[in-house]
Amino acid sequence: MDLSFNCRLFAFILIALAIFAADDSKWNKRKLTTVSCGNNCSYIKAEGQSDILHYLFSGKPAMSILSIKTDTNGKLLINTKFSPPQIKVDPDKSFLYAFGIVFDKLIEYNDSKNTANIEKYDPAEWKNYSTAMEIVSNKQDSVVFFKSYSTDNVPRNITFSFWNFADNSRQDILPHLIVTSNSSLMNLVINNVKPSFSTSRFALAATYISHGNSRFSIKSEKSLDDEYSPGTFEVANWLAVSNNHNSFWQWKPVSYFGTPRSTMTSTYVKSYKLNTNFSRLPENPSLAYSFFTEMGDYNMSSNILSFGLTDDKFYDRNNYTAWSATFGYGIPPAETVSTLAIAIISVGLGIPALLFVGGGIYLCLKRRRNDYEPVFGTISS
Ligand SMILES: *[C@@H]1O[C@H](CO)[C@@H](O)[C@H](O)[C@H]1NC(C)=O
Ligand SMILES: *[C@@H]1O[C@H](CO)[C@@H](O)[C@H](O)[C@H]1NC(C)=O
Ligand SMILES: *[C@@H]1O[C@H](CO)[C@@H](O)[C@H](O)[C@H]1NC(C)=O
Ligand SMILES: *[C@@H]1O[C@H](CO)[C@@H](O)[C@H](O)[C@H]1NC(C)=O
Ligand SMILES: *[C@@H]1O[C@H](CO)[C@@H](O)[C@H](O)[C@H]1NC(C)=O
Ligand SMILES: *[C@@H]1O[C@H](CO)[C@@H](O)[C@H](O)[C@H]1NC(C)=O
Ligand SMILES: *[C@@H]1O[C@H](CO)[C@@H](O)[C@H](O)[C@H]1NC(C)=O
Ligand SMILES: *[C@@H]1O[C@H](CO)[C@@H](O)[C@H](O)[C@H]1NC(C)=O
Repeated sequence: MDLSFNCRLFAFILIALAIFAADDSKWNKRKLTTVSCGNNCSYIKAEGQSDILHYLFSGKPAMSILSIKTDTNGKLLINTKFSPPQIKVDPDKSFLYAFGIVFDKLIEYNDSKNTANIEKYDPAEWKNYSTAMEIVSNKQDSVVFFKSYSTDNVPRNITFSFWNFADNSRQDILPHLIVTSNSSLMNLVINNVKPSFSTSRFALAATYISHGNSRFSIKSEKSLDDEYSPGTFEVANWLAVSNNHNSFWQWKPVSYFGTPRSTMTSTYVKSYKLNTNFSRLPENPSLAYSFFTEMGDYNMSSNILSFGLTDDKFYDRNNYTAWSATFGYGIPPAETVSTLAIAIISVGLGIPALLFVGGGIYLCLKRRRNDYEPVFGTISS
């Protein structure tokens, strides 16, 4: 048997496996760049191999995001003389799909009956907060918006932050959402804003707009494993399904009333019945809304997400509410088997693999030693 050939084959298999592993991680990478798009507007371009994702995050006159997918020749013409800016895709035919999210307003309601259900109260008694925001920080892959509500010298504010990613990963912080090169992460924090009621809770009213003849739904999926967000066995997906394109807004129904985020500081996020009745949808001057109005051919849906759970002691217990979500193109990422389960499976697969690698190296080294034996033999004889 020709052992040297086997060693080459063995080395070849190892190198092939290494290339396969390395290649796999580069698969979806995008190049991110940021430029301003006018008054409190940030444009993050995510260039991939087969398409470009253009993300616009605009804080004036109302917080919204607009995301446009073009082929690799697509550019945006941005007229910053207007606020929100006017956006044109150039050339027209590079346009593939677009979706937008308008954060219509934040609502504080007096949950005197401790129901954690905003529909139990008359909208005329809500306290509505505008989401007009200013940029406080803007990096290559992220942008932070904020609005101060401080009347004393204590910081009180509402912030919206957004991140894009070159690659796929899972967030380090709770609730450990999955992000991909085709999605963005958002974070909403109500930071020490003075409550108007001792039994206050907050809620977010939002409108999701999608190009083409889009059908919307909110689907909750049970996840088998809650290792990543203890106590949370659910993932909510607000889906837009149009002709050939899909987009999604994904979150776990969990928000936090304190830092650091933990099971001890977590509470519930409730969503309501999706409103797709056009005539009742809010029309507002945000960037996403103005882009689609100009372009035509879109559908919208709106909903409210409210933060809190009966008997969780209300916003006032800490004067803090934080919530994270992701939104992006295609099918929302599905919760997969946890690392713990993977670790257990890997041990099962890993031992044979170690035996293979270890055994191969041993055999090859042994073979090399054997090669020299006759030489030593000659010298010693
Ligand atoms: C954001 O808006 C504020 C006030 O409206 C303005 O002073 C500031 O220059 C704007 N910042 C950017 C980066 O556009
Ligand atoms: C708050 O907004 C709702 C619509 O979402 C409206 O019906 C209500 O009157 C507003 N409340 C106040 C106090 O302005
Ligand atoms: C992201 O989109 C690109 C092109 O549209 C696709 O090839 C890739 O598989 C997508 N990545 C993920 C993680 O969905
Ligand atoms: C917002 O308020 C928090 C405290 O409530 C403070 O730590 C933070 O610095 C404020 N953010 C900005 C941008 O001022
Ligand atoms: C909150 O609602 C309760 C019950 O209706 C009422 O007694 C209380 O005055 C309200 N609080 C404020 C600040 O309006
Ligand atoms: C989308 O909007 C158009 C125009 O308003 C309407 O005719 C169509 O039925 C809507 N599509 C869906 C799936 O709701
Ligand atoms: C849609 O909204 C209009 C105007 O507000 C209303 O008259 C109509 O009943 C609504 N339709 C449904 C199905 O709720
Ligand atoms: C939250 O704010 C209210 C009003 O300013 C205050 O009465 C309450 O003590 C605050 N809660 C905490 C935990 O600081």
